[in-house]
Amino acid sequence: MRVVLMGPPGAGKGTQAKKVVGALDLAHVSTGDMFRRMVAAGGDLGKRIQAIIGQGHLVPDKETSEVVDAFLTQESLWDSFMLDGFPRTVPQAEMLDAMLARRKKSLDAVVAIDLSEQNVLARLGGRRSCLACGSVYHEVSAPPKKPGVCDRDGKALQVREDDKPDKIRERLRIYESQTQPLLDYYAKSGVLKRVPGDAEADEVAGRILAVLRGQR
Ligand code: AP5
Ligand code: MG
Repeated sequence: MRVVLMGPPGAGKGTQAKKVVGALDLAHVSTGDMFRRMVAAGGDLGKRIQAIIGQGHLVPDKETSEVVDAFLTQESLWDSFMLDGFPRTVPQAEMLDAMLARRKKSLDAVVAIDLSEQNVLARLGGRRSCLACGSVYHEVSAPPKKPGVCDRDGKALQVREDDKPDKIRERLRIYESQTQPLLDYYAKSGVLKRVPGDAEADEVAGRILAVLRGQR
């Protein structure tokens, strides 16, 4: 099964992907996580990506698509993936279609998690991240056992640079102008499924699993 997970910043894409990929035996492919790993690796490329992400802007389309194509080197990965945060522009969707067509494959479903702007602000305002291992917490809905410390590796939790209020606004603006048009793109090809994201994380996961199991 090949699935794309969409939704505004903070809708819960990463949280949901981690919850459902095991049950469906899919590889979780997050471009945001890939870019953060490239930033952590340093070098000129890492610094350039860091500047783009830190501003809440998008990495250029061609570069992003090449990173995804390079990540999915094992052909078996093209049979069972959940893409989290890619594509997020129409040109990226067209590039993904071309990558799939080259392998004589297509998408089974695009799941869009819907969340109001008010909820997005509450989710991102309370998010705390472990930049070392990628674990994600929330001050209210998913707190770590010890405040400010990652349960997994004991490192200090941080606020992502792009979770500062002005950067969240910029990301929302870009989502509306560049990513929302993708909903029409995928509605036209008949693969779009919309899932309300305003419930506890396990309940949202149940909704996503129900939609995807109905798809099999
Ligand atoms: P990326 O990391 O993908 O950021 P995003 O799309 O803005 O989404 P987030 O990761 O912020 O939110 P999420 O939906 O995963 O929510 P989460 O599960 O963490 O991308 C970062 C940057 O990389 C981009 O801005 C861009 O620069 C670049 N980039 C990435 N992909 C790109 C592409 N394709 N093209 C170009 N550039 C690209 O949840 C949020 C919070 O809410 C957490 O604290 C969580 O604990 C909490 N939470 C989750 N679900 C619930 C729930 N149901 N109830 C209560 N709390 C919840
Ligand atoms: Mg995420």
